[in-house]
Amino acid sequence: MIETRTIRVGDARIAVHTTGRGPLALLVHGYPLDHRMWLDLMHGELAAHRTLCAVDLRGHGDSPWALDRCHAMELFADDLAAVLRSLDDGPADVVALSMGGYAALALCERHPLAVHSLALVDTRASADTPEGKAGRTAAMQNVLERGRRWLAEQMVPKLVSPGCDALVRARVQTMVESLAVETILADLEGMRERKNRRVVLPQLAMPVLVVVGALDVITPPSDAEAMQKEIPGAQLAVIPDAGHLVPMEAPGPFAAALGAFWGVEIS
Ligand code: MLT
Repeated sequence: MIETRTIRVGDARIAVHTTGRGPLALLVHGYPLDHRMWLDLMHGELAAHRTLCAVDLRGHGDSPWALDRCHAMELFADDLAAVLRSLDDGPADVVALSMGGYAALALCERHPLAVHSLALVDTRASADTPEGKAGRTAAMQNVLERGRRWLAEQMVPKLVSPGCDALVRARVQTMVESLAVETILADLEGMRERKNRRVVLPQLAMPVLVVVGALDVITPPSDAEAMQKEIPGAQLAVIPDAGHLVPMEAPGPFAAALGAFWGVEIS
C-alpha cells in the first residue's frame, strides 16, 4: 500500500508517497511530471528492500504551487533536504530523473550528508545552452498563449520512444496535462536559469549509478557517458529500447539495474 503524507516546508506543502520497508530511497520525478512516474517501481520487488518515498516537488502532483515564479534547483534541493530531515531516517538512496537529477545534484552540493547513494536517471549536469535557454523562453510564451495541451503535444513524443506502449504513453500524457500552468512556467524558468554543475561531479563521494535509455532524445546517452566519466567510480547502465522515461518504459530492466546497484537481488 502507498501512504501519502504532507510535509510543511516554509510556505510550501510537499506531498510524499511511501511504500515498502528497509533503508530509505527518495524518488525525485522530472518535468513536467509527478510521483506517478515511479508507480511501477513502487509496486515492484524493490519495495521489499527499500522504503520507497516518491516526492511531489512543489507545484507538482499533490503538492500545491507555493506562488514561486521560479522553481530554482536550489529551492527544490532545500525542499528535498527538509523532507529527508522530517523523515528522520539518515542519509537516503536518491533516485532522480532529469529535472529531478538537476535538483539532486544541487542537493549533493548543498546537503551532501543527506545522500547515501545517487542514481542519476536520464539527466545531465551541464546548464542549458543558449539555444536551450531560448527554447525555454519560447515554451513559456507558448504555454501562456496555448495552454498545457500545447506542452503535451510537444513533450510527450520526446519523453517516450516511438515504440512506447500505448498505455504508458497515455499515463505520461495524463501527467503532463494535469500539471498547472503556473508550475510549468516556474519549472521552465528554474531550468533555464540553472547553473552548470559539472564541477560537482568529481566531488561526489557516494556511490553513483548513471542510467539512460538508449533512445533518449532529451538527455541522450552521450550526456550520460560524459557524466559517468567525470564521477569517480560511477557505474553506467544503458537500457535498450527505452526513451527518456526509462522507469516507465522499461520498469523491469530499470529495477534490475537499480537493484544491482543497491546490492539487492530481484528475480
Ligand atoms: C525532464 O524530463 O525533467 C525535462 O525534460 C528536462 C529538461 O527539459 O531539461
